[in-house]
Amino acid sequence: SVFTLDQLQWCTVSDKELSKCSDMSKAFSKARILPLLTCVRGVSASDCMSMINARVADVAAVDGGTIYQAGKEYNLKPVVGEAYGQDVGTSYYAVAVVRANSNLTINSLGGGKTCHTGINRTVGWNVPVGFLLDSGRMAVMGCEIARAVGNYFSASCVPGASGDGYPASLCELCKGGVDGRGKCEPSSKEEYYDYMGAFRCLVEGAGEVAFVKHSTVAEATGGQAPPFWVQQLQADDFQLLCRDGNKAAVTEWRTCHLARVPAHAVVAREDTDGSLVFQLLSQGQQRFNAEGSDFQMFSSSAYDGKNLLFKDSTTELVPIMEQTYQAWLGEEYLHAMRGLDCDPTRLPPFLRWCVLSTEEIWKCSAMAKAFKGKNLKPEIQCVSAESPEQCMKGIQKRDIDVVSLAGEDIYMAGETYGLAPAAGEHYADKDTASTYYAVAVVRRAVADAFTIYELKGKKSCHTGYGRMAGWNLPVGFLLRKGLMQPQGCSVLKAASAFFSASCAPSAKIEDYPANLCELCVGDGKGNGKCSASSQELYYGYTGAFRCLAESRGDVAFVKHTTVFENTEGNNIDSWASHLRSGDFQLLCPNGARAEVSQFANCHWGQVPPRAIMVHPDTNPLAVYGLLDKAQDFFGDDNNRNGFKMFNSTDFQGQDLIFKDSTVAIVPAAESRTSSSWLGQQILESLEGLRSSQCSGAAAASMNFFLLLIQALVLLDATLHDP
Ligand SMILES: *[C@@H]1O[C@H](CO)[C@@H](O)[C@H](O)[C@H]1NC(C)=O
Ligand SMILES: *[C@@H]1O[C@H](CO)[C@@H](O)[C@H](O)[C@H]1NC(C)=O
Ligand SMILES: *[C@@H]1O[C@H](CO)[C@@H](O)[C@H](O)[C@H]1NC(C)=O
Repeated sequence: SVFTLDQLQWCTVSDKELSKCSDMSKAFSKARILPLLTCVRGVSASDCMSMINARVADVAAVDGGTIYQAGKEYNLKPVVGEAYGQDVGTSYYAVAVVRANSNLTINSLGGGKTCHTGINRTVGWNVPVGFLLDSGRMAVMGCEIARAVGNYFSASCVPGASGDGYPASLCELCKGGVDGRGKCEPSSKEEYYDYMGAFRCLVEGAGEVAFVKHSTVAEATGGQAPPFWVQQLQADDFQLLCRDGNKAAVTEWRTCHLARVPAHAVVAREDTDGSLVFQLLSQGQQRFNAEGSDFQMFSSSAYDGKNLLFKDSTTELVPIMEQTYQAWLGEEYLHAMRGLDCDPTRLPPFLRWCVLSTEEIWKCSAMAKAFKGKNLKPEIQCVSAESPEQCMKGIQKRDIDVVSLAGEDIYMAGETYGLAPAAGEHYADKDTASTYYAVAVVRRAVADAFTIYELKGKKSCHTGYGRMAGWNLPVGFLLRKGLMQPQGCSVLKAASAFFSASCAPSAKIEDYPANLCELCVGDGKGNGKCSASSQELYYGYTGAFRCLAESRGDVAFVKHTTVFENTEGNNIDSWASHLRSGDFQLLCPNGARAEVSQFANCHWGQVPPRAIMVHPDTNPLAVYGLLDKAQDFFGDDNNRNGFKMFNSTDFQGQDLIFKDSTVAIVPAAESRTSSSWLGQQILESLEGLRSSQCSGAAAASMNFFLLLIQALVLLDATLHDP
């Protein structure tokens, strides 16, 4: 513990603060409060954090932004918090205020006119900008945050955002003083500066939304002598924008805000005993917080300063129980800080993109050239690999930066290699090929009335072994729920023992259980039985459904559109032309049955879009920011900029780098882990599949990879199947 040293070194950032600190040190020592408090001088709050880390200082009281950086970079922890009395205790709230008749919501702020307390200030800038960035509403390229804000809003007043590197629109709505001077200065010369100024900017109609704190509207409209510019307005002439897109009265700030802003806190190294720091300060505040005592801990007036060591509004210091920076900052504020956490000097100069085929290399090279031509940052470099898994390994070792992956690869990338989604593909709303529901189709007939609990011993039709809707999701789910019993280390054996007979077409696999091919028919002339190709009539979605429709099987594992594509005359082949969708039903995983149209509530998992995955230390917002800017130029298939992001025709391929059906790249937003990207249901099924492959043994995990690779080969074969 630090108290094996006999002193606690407080880090200060100005001469005034140093002078207050040395008075505090003298006062404490005179009062025999131990350990001895000493003072050191740092240059800035962040400098103090690195001094504490380097053990040349021990503690300092800092704001939320600094607590975030210190926690992330040096693992420093908050140990004592400031409390400000009233009913908000140790925090306040950052809110977005609009006129009560405004149409704006948090989701339509893009293109709006905004009023901010000042550049880099907590509620006026850091929280709203961080929130918009982190949630993916606003994109930033190359960590140029001010430019991103300038592009996102049509005009703003952000006092202090003038000069180099700041777009002119950030000062456009500012007013200056009565004499017209001081426009956009971060001082009272600018009438729209600070909380009251930002609110005035809204009241006077310059902006449509003001980023202020929870008490600002009440303070302006409710006082004895409201400022003249408030005119006759009342608090209920205004509303708050909530994070979820709703609005609420200005009194509802506890539930409708952008973030709870944590109080300042004293931070210390991981190995410092926080309770001893509190004991020291607790004794101090008992002696030196009263009116008239010779030293005043929470006042800075004797030093001609403000908020020295502690904020002047502090009423008491409180111990922090859960000493992690995440717990102190809270989820909302933490995410806003994460959104702002983009340091251009830490961006890689190149983003190394993993590609898997010659055609992909061609497209990737064209993409790199096209992006560079538009000065997009970071630049792209193309790195080729043999398999998706090699890409994942390369990213884990940081030899590669980015790869785009589908379904079970996303699972492996997250579980085995710790990668995270940075962005994802988005397909047209009516596009049911790119993301779809996996369903289990059965015949409606009373004689066939069974549920998943009676599935054992039934005859099954699968699109193919190792495929998502046809195999992985149903078999994984049945294993996971304990309905299907694991057999040794083999999922194949488990499935073979569960179903009495099946058709699960596959590539040649040694010891492939015979009954998994029993229902297959090949090409009807004795060739290609059970092969994972169009030779097998029961292969693929349509084939598996045909296997059911021709009463070979009792259940078909397909996707939600398959029934509709092959009934009501939509498929004129003789086996399908007479089929009615009403003759079929779905088996739900919860044991119920549902109509085929109710797939959204009766499915075995929704296959997610492909994800663009990165190392967890790669800034996902920078990757999304690049692609978002890029799609402005190259996203539209009719663009005239010489490259099409979502079309592979020019490179003699399909779905190269991105799926051709992609209409936009979207941010990962809330889905920052592979598990949340896949969703609970898919995750559980894939876990079910994996956990029955004899975990622990190296050979077994190898087996798992082989299985996945086979699945890939199959998928690949499907894609190239005419
Ligand atoms: C709000 O929306 C309505 C209908 O879309 C529109 O007519 C009205 O002008 C909008 N009001 C404002 C203040 O933008
Ligand atoms: C605001 O913060 C950014 C990022 O830390 C910094 O680069 C910039 O200089 C700051 N602006 C002002 C006016 O302090
Ligand atoms: C892709 O681009 C080619 C021309 O380069 C065009 O003929 C084709 O229609 C495009 N594909 C799609 C799906 O838009």
